[in-house]
Amino acid sequence: MRAVCWHGRGDVRVDTVADPKIQEPGDIVIKVTATAICGSDLHLFNGYQPTMQSGDIIGHEPMGTVVEAGRGVTKLKVGDRVVVPFVIACGTCFFCSRTEFSCCDNTNPNAEMARKAMGQSPAGLFGFSHMLGGYPGGQAEYLRVPHADVGPIKIESDLSDEKVLFLSDIFPTGYMAAENAGIERGDTVAVWGCGPVGQFAIRSAWMLGAGRVIAIDRVAERLTLAAKTGAEAVNFSEDGDVYGILMEKTKGRGPDRCIDAVGCEAHGAGSFDAVVDRVKTSLLLTSDRAHVLREAIMCCRKAGTVSTPGVYVGMIDNVPFGAAMNKGLTMKMGQTHVQRYLKPLLKRIETGEIDPSFVITHRIGLEEAPEAYKTFRDRKDGCIKVVIKP
Ligand SMILES: NC(=O)c1ccc[n+]([C@@H]2O[C@H](COP(=O)([O-])OP(=O)(O)OC[C@H]3O[C@@H](n4cnc5c(N)ncnc54)[C@H](O)[C@@H]3O)[C@@H](O)[C@H]2O)c1
Ligand SMILES: [Zn+2]
Ligand SMILES: [Zn+2]
Repeated sequence: MRAVCWHGRGDVRVDTVADPKIQEPGDIVIKVTATAICGSDLHLFNGYQPTMQSGDIIGHEPMGTVVEAGRGVTKLKVGDRVVVPFVIACGTCFFCSRTEFSCCDNTNPNAEMARKAMGQSPAGLFGFSHMLGGYPGGQAEYLRVPHADVGPIKIESDLSDEKVLFLSDIFPTGYMAAENAGIERGDTVAVWGCGPVGQFAIRSAWMLGAGRVIAIDRVAERLTLAAKTGAEAVNFSEDGDVYGILMEKTKGRGPDRCIDAVGCEAHGAGSFDAVVDRVKTSLLLTSDRAHVLREAIMCCRKAGTVSTPGVYVGMIDNVPFGAAMNKGLTMKMGQTHVQRYLKPLLKRIETGEIDPSFVITHRIGLEEAPEAYKTFRDRKDGCIKVVIKP
């Protein structure tokens, strides 16, 4: 089959690789009908995620049709149409039974590697490094899906792929980010990053009762898309100091809830800490550029919440933890417990409350993926979300 493979920083290629096979009784193999490129894939593309190996198949936002099912699979059969969460979860361990699926204890065969880096290993993820399981990813013609009775959600209606595909990751991720923010009715919610995750965080913040949403980015069309929902757009490279703007907008109190939907590759519009991050990451002295996390902590109102869906990888410098502590902030974060959100969010799509395809700007074939990675990375051509139809 053909698949998008990682070969190093800035180098992904479409290679011919072996077709996936059933390996465990609980596996299915799907023929991928739609799959997407995520901001997390950019961290791989830009060389931020350790333990990638040349030839690894990447991608973690797939859906498709079941073409083979292991003998242990009870809920799915050949021909079913499914969306596959990026998190692989066993469904029975301590964490899965608490619906903390991205913390599953049983799906990372390389748990020891992750334990050394993090103290304990999170769940295995599709197409996201050997430290997180070494599972071949979903930007491919076919995909093996382990624990098929736990992860994939069957789509029984005739909703198009484009409407349900983002249940695999970014809709639940934006929603969990808003939920983690602990939004109370009428709250002012500031969202850093208007990429796909930010867009879903903004829409979810409204769903959960926000009174005001302030959207921060520097990419004009992303800010425009955010503003369409009624969010107030702040362009961090044109409008000036974000802290000053947020204080002005909130009469000096700060936003009640702050969501960092940017993560480890924040741009800093020339701010001192961001320049230092750039130098240090290029010299491998630190792994992440944490400008947004710092800014969110400084801006957040006392006793407010900082919610971090943005991915961080390793060590971060100069985080004002004293500010967080003394202001009494609540901080919540994590890889999304996708499985927990599949049914409720599918329902919101079915009832027409949201049509997640609003975020798609590019539709391509598999062979065009390497070019699309560059377009998405460079925010060229109005690119917000790329859907690949293998
Ligand atoms: N927690 C999870 O389970 C999960 C799932 C999916 C994605 N993610 C992460 O969420 C983050 C966003 O993903 P995405 O697909 O939207 O990515 P993206 O790269 O398309 O979007 C990031 C946005 O942040 C903006 N940005 C950069 N610096 C900024 C700053 N200083 N202030 C405000 N905005 C700034 C960029 O201009 C860009 O629009 C990534 O870190 C990704 O890895 C996490
Ligand atoms: Zn993702
Ligand atoms: Zn588990």
